[in-house]
This record gives sequence, C-alpha cells and structure tokens, in this order.
Amino acid sequence: AARELILAFESSCDETSVAVVENGNKILSNIIATQIKSHQRFGGVVPEVASRHHVEQITLVTDAALKEAGVTYTDLTAVAVTYGPGLVGALLIGVTAAKTIAYAHHLPLIPVNHMAGHIYAARFVKPLTYPLLALAVSGGHTELVYMKAAGEFEIIGDTRDDAAGEAYDKVGRILGIPYPAGKEVDRLAHLGHDTFHFPRAMDKEDNLDFSFSGLKSAVINTVHHADQIGETLSREDLAASFQAAVVDVLVHKTQKALTNYPVKQLIVAGGVAANQGLKEAMNEALAVHFPDVDVIVPPLRLTGDNGAMIGAAAHIELAKRHLASENLNADPGLSF
Ligand code: KG4
Ligand code: ZN
Repeated sequence: AARELILAFESSCDETSVAVVENGNKILSNIIATQIKSHQRFGGVVPEVASRHHVEQITLVTDAALKEAGVTYTDLTAVAVTYGPGLVGALLIGVTAAKTIAYAHHLPLIPVNHMAGHIYAARFVKPLTYPLLALAVSGGHTELVYMKAAGEFEIIGDTRDDAAGEAYDKVGRILGIPYPAGKEVDRLAHLGHDTFHFPRAMDKEDNLDFSFSGLKSAVINTVHHADQIGETLSREDLAASFQAAVVDVLVHKTQKALTNYPVKQLIVAGGVAANQGLKEAMNEALAVHFPDVDVIVPPLRLTGDNGAMIGAAAHIELAKRHLASENLNADPGLSF
C-alpha cells in the first residue's frame, strides 16, 4: 500500500502542535509547543495571549515536525487542521497555516474536529473496531460518544454545565495549584482519602448526562467554611474526595452507556484521560462488569492536545474524501 503522509496542525487552545502521521496510525513526528507558563499568572488561558504565541511558534513547529519526520513538503499526501471547537483566534492561526501550505504545494486540505482527534488518538494504541463507545473528557468537553462506524459520532451523554477538566482546574485554584491543575490534583488525590463524601451529581438519574458545577461549589464552600472557623483542611483529602466524586460519576455513566450500547471497545480520550484515578477505577469496574470490553486509553503524550491525533482523524476523513475548500474557516462552536 502507498505510504500516506499527513501534515497535521493543532492550535485550538494553548498548545501549538504539528505532526507528521503515516497511514493514520504511525507517528513520524509530533512537536508540541506549550504556552502554559504564559497563561499561569492569569489563572487560565487568555485568548489574545494564545493567538500571539501560536503566530510566533507555528512556523518553527512546522519546520521541526518536517525535520524530525525526515520528510519535505513534496513527500506529503495531505494537510490537516483542527478547525473547531476551540478559541477562534487560536484556531485561525492553524487554519491559515494549513490552508497556505495546502495551496502552495497543491495538497488536499482536511478539516478535523478537535474532539474527533482526541478519540482517534486511540488509533495509535491499536486498530479500532466498530461499534465503539468513547468517553471524551477534556478542559472544554465531557461527552459519551457512540460510534456506529468510523466517522460517525453520536453524542449520547453530555455535561449540563462544567467540563470535567474545567472542574479540576477550578478546584485546583482553590487548593492553590497553578493552571492547569488536573495533574497535580490527581497526584494529591493519591495521597489522601475520600473523607468529605461530596455529592455525585446525576449519578442515580436515568440518563447519560453529567454535572460538575455543584461538586465544584461543594468543594469551594467546604474550604471557605473551614477558613471562617480558622480550620485548615487536608489538601490531600480534599483532592481525594473531589476526585472520587468525579471518577465515580464518570465510571457509573460509562457503565450505563455500555449497558444501553453494547460494544467491544471503550476509548477514554482527552486531557482528563491522563487521570490515574480514572484509569484505575475504569479498568477495575469494567473488568468485573464488562469483561469483554477492551478499555483503550492513549499514552500520556497523546491524551492532551497534540497534532498527531489530528493526523489520525484526518486519515479517516481523507478516505471518505471529506475535504475543505480554500475558504475553510475556524468554527469555535463546532460539534459532532
Ligand atoms: O484535552 P486537553 O489537553 O485540552 C482541551 O481540549 O481542553 O485537556 C486539558 C484538561 C485540563 O483541564 C487539565 O487540567 C486536564 O485536562 N488534565 C487532567 C489531568 N491531566 C490534564 N485532569 C485530571 N487529571 C489529570 N491527570
Ligand atoms: Zn483538547
């Protein structure tokens, strides 16, 4: 079979990333320039700062990706780019770079949905078999997605308010952890115990939806109340109690989804898929209740935002000839 090489761009939030992916499942390069340090003092991503960094980085990162992969523009089969969802100004930098290269080198341009990219990152672990279910958990999204076939996404569960990663970042702020707090809250959680028994919102409700803003408020209120009476609470126990509540709900709703939608593969995708507590609890619960379901979690470097996942998704889109014209625009609110 021909060697299909896709140059893939990701710039939807605070990572400028460009990758070269071969045949949708082999990473030749995956350069990620993170801007986290520039946003930390603001406690979150500042859109204008993000756009400026993307502009400064995109050419350097593109050159590095081609160099590391050992390819030139003439070796490429196509160019792919995240066109949504995300920050409009940030997305536009990647879209403009990809359009320019596609036009200059007469290459097809493949538009990719960022969340599809997160899910297809699992292709780097093993071939996907359909139908499958994905739990996509990131800083902006918390979705249960049913895929009847490649390229077909049905959202069967969604958050009613905050995304899981967003809840981690907000609770982290209360605990004095810099943005993005997920990784450090996860680490603290392993040193503490679930002593606070925070609410598991919507856990018992007969749907596949989530809600995390009540949990976030419960943590904030608990800390403020302790402050008022001059008490200092264990950060480890707060983190452990918060994480237990998040993980319980994610695992229970996933099990409910698996009951309604029988599949053989479950993909856990997005930045929060890096969570150690979530991976352990999901594997444990499914080993007992759904022993035939294979849980696929991409490795750490591929759960967060990266260009390689966009290349994996683009390979499927290219096979379907889902191409963009030179008029491709960023779509910040893009859904499946
Ligand atoms: O997918 P991602 O890199 O960017 C978006 O598309 O949003 O996800 C970033 C989110 C952040 O909220 C971050 O705190 C969270 O993923 N995150 C984690 C962990 N590592 C990153 N949340 C919980 N546990 C982790 N280990
Ligand atoms: Zn993401």
